[in-house]
Parts: sequence; C-alpha cells; structure tokens
Amino acid sequence: MMLKKIQDAKIKKQTVVLRLDLNVPYSNGKSTDTSRIEKTKETIHHLIKNENKVVILSHFGRPNGRINKDLSLIKLLGYLNEILYLDIKFLPSLEIDLWSEEIEAAPFPSIFLLENVRFSKLEELNDPDFSSKLASLGNVYCNDAFSVSHRAHASTQGITNYLPSFAGFLVQSELKALSLALEQPLKPVTAIVGGSKISTKLELLDNLSNKVEYLIIGGAMANTFLSAQGYGIGISLTEKKMIHTAKEIIQELKYKKCKLVLPLDIVCANSLNEKKEAQTFRVDCCPLDSMILDIGIQSQKNIMDIINKSKTLIWNGPLGAFETRPFDQGTNNIANYAANRTSKKQLISIAGGGDTVSALKTSDSISKFSYVSTAGGAFLEWLEGKSLPGIESLKI
Ligand code: 3PG
Repeated sequence: MMLKKIQDAKIKKQTVVLRLDLNVPYSNGKSTDTSRIEKTKETIHHLIKNENKVVILSHFGRPNGRINKDLSLIKLLGYLNEILYLDIKFLPSLEIDLWSEEIEAAPFPSIFLLENVRFSKLEELNDPDFSSKLASLGNVYCNDAFSVSHRAHASTQGITNYLPSFAGFLVQSELKALSLALEQPLKPVTAIVGGSKISTKLELLDNLSNKVEYLIIGGAMANTFLSAQGYGIGISLTEKKMIHTAKEIIQELKYKKCKLVLPLDIVCANSLNEKKEAQTFRVDCCPLDSMILDIGIQSQKNIMDIINKSKTLIWNGPLGAFETRPFDQGTNNIANYAANRTSKKQLISIAGGGDTVSALKTSDSISKFSYVSTAGGAFLEWLEGKSLPGIESLKI
C-alpha cells in the first residue's frame, strides 16, 4: 500500500494536527500499560526535531459525547511528558476558538494536547463543521493512530478533507507488518483465532480461510465447532445459535485449501473456581458436568507441529481461559514456542486484537514476536479484509 508518509513531506516550522490513540488501559488512577504512548515517540520526536508545533488529538474511553472528568486526557499528561521528555501544554476543552490564538503565539517547536475529542458527540458523527474546526488548529494533519483508524470519525477521517494528510511512523509500521502477514506472506501461513464468540469473528474466519493454510481455533469458540462436529462439551461456554454456522464453515473449509485445526484433548474443571480439580480428557470424553477451559498437551503438540511447518503466524485471541491459572498453559506454551521459532528466524509472528496482547503477556515471550499490533478492533477489521476509513485518506 502506497501511503503519504510524514517523513517524505519534509514538514518544517508548520503546525501539525497529530491524531494519536492514547486510549490506554487505566484503572485505580493508573495506566496499566503505556505501550501505546511509547509507540508515539518516533513521530512526535520527528515533528519536534523539525521545529514544528504539534497539536495532539486523541480519544480516551467512550464518554458518548459528554464531558466526563474520569476520561479527561489530563490524566495521561504526566505519562506523555515523562515518556516523551517533553513539556506538553494541555488545552482543557473542545472550545477550539479559545486555543487558536495561543497556538499561533507559541514558539516553534511547541506541543499541545487537546482534551478528549469524544467529549463532543460531533466527533463520532464525523460532523463536517467539527472536522473543519479541528483542522483549523493547524495546517498539516498526521494520523499516527492506526488502532482507531477503523472509525470514520471527525479526527480520523473528516479532518482529512480539510488538510494535507500524512501517515505517521506507527501507522506505517502497523501496515507494513500486517501486509507482510496477509498480502505477500511467506507460506505456509497459520492463523490462530481464539476468544469466546464465533458470532463476532465470522468475517474474520471467512477472510482468513482464503489466505491461510492452517486455521487453528481455540478458546470457547472451539467449543461451538466441537458441538458442530457432534462432540459433547459438558457445561462449557458455547454459542448454541452458531452451531449451524459452524457446520457450514467446516463444510466450506473442506473446499478451500485451508485446514481447520481443533483441540484433540481438553483441560476441564467443574467451574473456573475449581481449578484444583482440572483434568485433561480426550476431546470425545468431556464429562457432562465439566467445562472446557484450555487445550491439553496433545493439542499443543499438534499446534507446535503446524507452527514448525509454517513460515508465518497470525495470532488473534487466547486458546483458553488465560486469566485463571492453570488455564493459561495452552496459550503460554504455544506463545513461547512461536517466540522461540521467531528468535531463530524460522517464523514471522504477528499478534494483535482485543485480549490477545494481554493473553500473550502472561508468558513473557511476546517481546520476541516479529510484530505486536497496538490495535484491537482495527487489527480485526484489517484481518477481515475491510478497508479502514482513517487509512484510506492517507493513500497516494
Ligand atoms: C481501541 O482501544 O481499540 C481504540 O482506541 C478504539 O477504541 P473504540 O473501540 O472505543 O473506538
């Protein structure tokens, strides 16, 4: 994909409106993971080095168009200043007209952070007047927020109608990694798709099944497929309404050059709380009063054999109930295995989407993956084969 890149634009002494995704996990007055902030460094430092003024736009949480002090970006200002070694001035409301003069009067380089753009309902409505107001904060626009580029909002898409628009370094590296996995991948390609619901991943399964040689299903999603194949799954989490769809997917995959891989053995317990009672069974022997909470050793060996044969791995979603030990074992062991193959340059491994990064973080192998996307929904939509509105307008 040919993008208009910020470094090619040779921008100097301009005022750049920079869309970032500062939507970091936050609880009990602290951010539990600042990687999204860390990854903004390259673009911000590039812009500041070239003596530009930078006005950062971001959302934080889902305030639904209302001012909500708990979701004020001021909470992240300290992290930004510390991580970026910069002195960022906070603009505490969306009354844009109030700030234009102040930005204009500031010296080159300077850096500002505007309050949460989702405090206005016009942001999510992609309102043209609000887009043009945001655009009036500068004379160049840079999108470095891949993870929110699946949203056609004023600060991700509308604004590009009013300013020359460029992709930041993080957007560039996300797209490069994803293209490496899906557009011109080294084959064979394996996808691991886990998590709880098939219903939210139908388009993903459909698109992946046309592009990968092995489709490994884990997590509670696998239970619905196992039911569709006639196996008893006890009291496991499942989507009864999706059993018919799962049967259709199984049939379709037979005609495609994509092998569906389901668990061969399962780790079960009567409930998540009764983990001491966890036992492994063959997939056709799930006790009536048990729930499937992880994949067993045979399944792990099978997946490792497939990873051995593969040159590219795309991972979205955990293989078991990873938040509760020992049901993180399947996810951890496969993550470690993939990480080691990656370190030995035998595999390109790309992970992203929703829970995936926190699931893989329980083993510390994630740093060895070739690429870990900062995106949740945007990663999924990309894997579904959809175009992302925030990216479309950055294409040459
Ligand atoms: C995310 O965390 O995935 C992005 O920041 C997008 O957030 P949203 O799903 O609230 O649009």
